[in-house]
Amino acid sequence: MPVQKVRVRLKINGQDKELEIPSNLTLLELLRDELGLTGTKEGCGIGECGACTVLLNGRPVYACLVLAPKIDGREIITIEGIGQEGKLHPLQEAFLNHGAVQCGFCTPGMIMAAKALLDENPQPSKEEIEEAISGNLCRCTGYLQVVKAIKASGSGKKGEV
Ligand code: FES
Ligand code: FES
Repeated sequence: MPVQKVRVRLKINGQDKELEIPSNLTLLELLRDELGLTGTKEGCGIGECGACTVLLNGRPVYACLVLAPKIDGREIITIEGIGQEGKLHPLQEAFLNHGAVQCGFCTPGMIMAAKALLDENPQPSKEEIEEAISGNLCRCTGYLQVVKAIKASGSGKKGEV
């Protein structure tokens, strides 16, 4: 049976879009395969690694677990939507400066989870940071440098992108 198509409107990284998509598409497939936003990574594909974390109306979600038709009328921010042309976001700078990136596969998801935290709580404790990234797995750097980087980039500027 052919897959039904549905029309969705969304704001992605500040741009309004109207798309016709298969009703069974995940948000992760929409981002990577339809929109070419490959900064969001696919690790497990089943909600266990956090590599696909993006912000949905400001909250971190696993894009592999969200059906794309459900995002109609919502706002998505991916790793491509933070920072500016030629200027890294403070979190990206801090990850580099604190040696919090090795292979980098987990990094976009970690940064989006961290951004959600800092937008709500610009000066989190170590425990709050650990809690915020507890759904993001890293197989090579470990977590110490990541926690230090997030702590260092807490700027107190709510909503900065
Ligand atoms: S790819 Fe989505 S949680 Fe692992
Ligand atoms: S830096 Fe390699 S998985 Fe985290």
